[in-house]
Amino acid sequence: MKCVDDFRLKFGKQEYVPIVIGGMGVDISTSDLSLEAARLGGIGHISDAMVPTISDRRYDTKYVRDKQKQYKYNVANMDKSAVQFNLGLLAEATETHVRRTMERKRGDGLIFINCMEKLTMNAPRETLRVRLSSAMDAGIEGITLAAGLHLGSFALIEEHPRFRDVKLGIIVSSLRALQLFLRKSARTNRMPDYVVVEGPLAGGHLGFGMDWAQYDLATITAEIRDWLRAEQLDIPLIPAGGIFTGSDAVCFLEGGAAAVQLATRFTVAHECGLPADVQQHYFKASEEDIEVNTISPTGYPMRMLKSSPAIGAGIRPNCEAFGYLLDANGNCAYINAYNREVALHPDAKKIKVMDKTCLCTHMRNFDCWTCGHYTYRLKDTTRRLPDGNYQILSAEHIFKDYQFSKDNKVALPAQA
Ligand SMILES: Cc1cc2nc3c(=O)[nH]c(=O)nc-3n(C[C@H](O)[C@H](O)[C@H](O)COP(=O)(O)O)c2cc1C
Repeated sequence: MKCVDDFRLKFGKQEYVPIVIGGMGVDISTSDLSLEAARLGGIGHISDAMVPTISDRRYDTKYVRDKQKQYKYNVANMDKSAVQFNLGLLAEATETHVRRTMERKRGDGLIFINCMEKLTMNAPRETLRVRLSSAMDAGIEGITLAAGLHLGSFALIEEHPRFRDVKLGIIVSSLRALQLFLRKSARTNRMPDYVVVEGPLAGGHLGFGMDWAQYDLATITAEIRDWLRAEQLDIPLIPAGGIFTGSDAVCFLEGGAAAVQLATRFTVAHECGLPADVQQHYFKASEEDIEVNTISPTGYPMRMLKSSPAIGAGIRPNCEAFGYLLDANGNCAYINAYNREVALHPDAKKIKVMDKTCLCTHMRNFDCWTCGHYTYRLKDTTRRLPDGNYQILSAEHIFKDYQFSKDNKVALPAQA
């Protein structure tokens, strides 16, 4: 019986352990987590979601405070179209985050950035171009274009000097999405260096409708693999979503995948950005405690713990401070939902908004507990402590468990 370590991910002549830790916004896949993946010879992701906000927390900048001050006059205004990001500051924040991470890199692996294209930031093209360009300026080794994949993303950055040297990958959930992207970016004469195929059991936003349960990762991956072969396109495929053990990963690698992308198992690592008390909620969750709902203003279904404080919280929209989800016209589905509830309950001190959530604020505060389908199995990957909590793991332990385990086994950590 094989283990993941019997396989290698190849980019040209370079070989890597075929383990990719997926991007998890907002700063759930931290620099520390990504650096561990790289140190161990695999690929780690930082995330470009809400980087100015992350920078304030990590690097002592004041982007959020300054933006809030600048737009304070607009807080009570329903029209958020005036609330714009300063592109120079956005570039500065992204460069700081990427550069500080790259400076600390050790080992033979790679550091990529996950780019959430659904963060349209009230100026979709301009802000996306700045985010991608400044990540490349600061030395990122790869960019994974995620949620809300913009078909023109490659064209947006084709003039950048690193356009052909940085690894560029896309996340798709269907063959059709891949075909569309390839057709639209054919003009740039540049193929993606890898394609992440994300199935319906993943964490975060899903590339499926509420009928997600009718799809499965193995079928979609095989369909894409067969089409690529028929077209004689040699693009590494990286399945993601529900790959919980090393043996699950081996099944995909034997079926032609170049690597696997993983996230849920790493949400309970020391190096992960989730606060320790939230990690205990992940450990303790049962299958019934997890749902896919439509409260994300992006319009994509999202999987999370039902006990997430973000669900039903009727806070005032925080676009002056954040505003990452504002579309090209300064709209966000949460603003509409919030205003509707305020109009329905004019005298209420506190309102509830059940159908949408202020995702910027709640992701910033780690109050939207997004997670993968198999989160309820996390308790089986560690030891129970005398106080009833579960032992947090090291990223190295989880990584090596994926790399070397066989027979569907999961290695427990040494007793704390
Ligand atoms: C907590 C959490 C947050 C995530 N956030 C993002 C994100 O910001 N962008 C993204 O492309 N994928 C995101 N994902 C998806 C992962 O990168 C990954 O593809 C997927 O979850 C892998 O499946 P697994 O969690 O079953 O291992 C997230 C997943 C989790 C668990």
